[in-house]
Amino acid sequence: MDELDYNTCNATFRSLTNQQALMAGEIAALLGGGADLELTSYGCGFGMFELELIARTPRETVWFQGVDTNGEAVARLRADLAALPKVRGYRLFTAGMAEVAVQRIAPTECGLFIQSLCYLGAAEGMAVLKEARNRHRRVIVAVTPSNALNAAFAEWLACRGIVRPLFAQTFAEELRRLGIGFRSVSVDAEIAVPVSETRQRLLEFLVFARHQPWRGPPDRGSLLDAVAGLGTAGAGVIRVPHPVEVFTLE
Ligand SMILES: C[S@@+](CC[C@H](N)C(=O)[O-])C[C@H]1O[C@@H](n2cnc3c(N)ncnc32)[C@H](O)[C@@H]1O
Repeated sequence: MDELDYNTCNATFRSLTNQQALMAGEIAALLGGGADLELTSYGCGFGMFELELIARTPRETVWFQGVDTNGEAVARLRADLAALPKVRGYRLFTAGMAEVAVQRIAPTECGLFIQSLCYLGAAEGMAVLKEARNRHRRVIVAVTPSNALNAAFAEWLACRGIVRPLFAQTFAEELRRLGIGFRSVSVDAEIAVPVSETRQRLLEFLVFARHQPWRGPPDRGSLLDAVAGLGTAGAGVIRVPHPVEVFTLE
């Protein structure tokens, strides 16, 4: 992301979509009620989704374990978890999900991959997932289908040698190929970008959506045109479909 901070761009992007709220509702319902929830998130980042899930789950307490390559994000999540009375304990690793030593990850009720498996190619991603299935009673994966919105991100992955990234269609194919049973729910979320957004926030949105520095003209009009190219404009808002598929593995 070069000149812009990844976490800021992520936060701006997420503030413009209802995807996280819908996904958190869906996954909280899947997990159901009870006293305590032990959760492991692979690619937890700074826990934007995970903190919302912790707040919304009807469980009384949560024990949280997370892994992410981004040390700055992990440090931020550690501080946030420490301040939550509902969190009875936590353990965070700054590591790649394929590299973290298997024995260091504790078995928990649920293993979560929220918008993180698509950073991995099919071979590596499915190997990580198989390990996770052995370790957690339930594994939930949320990933977007590949579409116009993430085409530039897919190009970014291809430039880094990621072969067959695990977007929803490829992930479902891999599960079938390996004979892993699953149920999946499509969450029809959308992004709504007010045409009144500031130049800075439009830039942050595009940089996160495209996963690369903005190389076009930097004025507000050009940035707005680029956003409009992703969706449909009307009544002061540009709407972009932002579906996500939530898989529960059997
Ligand atoms: C879109 S963010 C999602 C973060 C968090 N799960 C959420 O939903 O708020 C994807 C995260 O995956 C992490 N990631 C990418 N490749 C990874 C890998 N190989 N191992 C661990 N984390 C990875 C990134 O650093 C980033 O924090």
